[in-house]
Amino acid sequence: MISVSTQSITETTRVMSRMHVIVHGGAGRFYPERSLNKIDPMSEAVEAAWEELVKGKPAEFAVVAALRIMEGDEHFNAGYGGYPNANGIVLQDIGLMRGSREFVSLLNVRRITYPSSVALDMMRDGRSLMSVWTHELMQQADAADEFIKERYGWVDSHDKLLSPHVLEMLARNQVEVGSSGGSHGTVGCVVCDSSGFFAAGTSTGGVNAKENGRIGDTPIVGSGVFADNEICALSTTGHGETLLLGLLSGFIVSNIRTELRKDANAFRHRPSLMEEILDQEFSELSRKAPDKGGGLIVIPRGGMPRYQCNSEMISIGYRTGTRNSVAESDSFIHLKTGEKVRRIEDLNQ
Ligand code: GLY
Repeated sequence: MISVSTQSITETTRVMSRMHVIVHGGAGRFYPERSLNKIDPMSEAVEAAWEELVKGKPAEFAVVAALRIMEGDEHFNAGYGGYPNANGIVLQDIGLMRGSREFVSLLNVRRITYPSSVALDMMRDGRSLMSVWTHELMQQADAADEFIKERYGWVDSHDKLLSPHVLEMLARNQVEVGSSGGSHGTVGCVVCDSSGFFAAGTSTGGVNAKENGRIGDTPIVGSGVFADNEICALSTTGHGETLLLGLLSGFIVSNIRTELRKDANAFRHRPSLMEEILDQEFSELSRKAPDKGGGLIVIPRGGMPRYQCNSEMISIGYRTGTRNSVAESDSFIHLKTGEKVRRIEDLNQ
């Protein structure tokens, strides 16, 4: 009896130590009050993802559980709270990918609060799809039954996704045209589930006052979102065109793959390795584009969740299994100075 229960505790510990969740709520300029408003929903998002993993759900379900919390919260530039385009319409982009190498990317989604749920429902084994939000998809959503409308947070007019918070920022001229950050950021989540499989998702309203039809990096596989069970999973936030031009995610994935080919346990053997890769690639991004950029979250195969940015701040929440089976959890705003801010009082010290 005793040996069976010891064995099952050891197994639980082993499984738990594989589970990791990391979310970002955007990177950019640091506006204290606005940034701090994101900490509670980010913590909630991490817990929602973790609950899915504890239930034994696949990684992509956990990713979407986290994204939904942030898409539904007006303090993030996604779903309800997304920035409007030049015509005043909230047009959203979502990329969802799982490590078995399937993705669904939807571009210019309209009148939907939770694009991540639509992407999850469109995910199929052995198929990938990148699609604009066609007239047919919009008609299907309009004709869907109440359960689906509620699940997707369907609204009958564009203005219902424009939150008071966004309208106030726009009225006060607090958002630059062409900015997706300004501390009101794109959201993302990266997960490693109890089987050791990855998924990643990124959801955004894009840059403020974007040209109608403009697409950033978010739904582009290998840029705004990526997952491959043999390599890593990642999600970005920031100025899409700069991240695309710099091929930031591509270089990071390539570095990780090179290290794993040399040593399959490279990220376990050298816990600082992921940081070294991120430091190198973000320095290169800053060299190419000194005034623009963003941030990224990543879990390498066999390693722990990590993040980096070249902007004034990145907002982060995470929960990780550890070897002692004690799950560590935290949410904070990471400033360029290295400070981690969790409460307004942290700034007055
Ligand atoms: N990174 C979000 C965008 O540029 O649309």
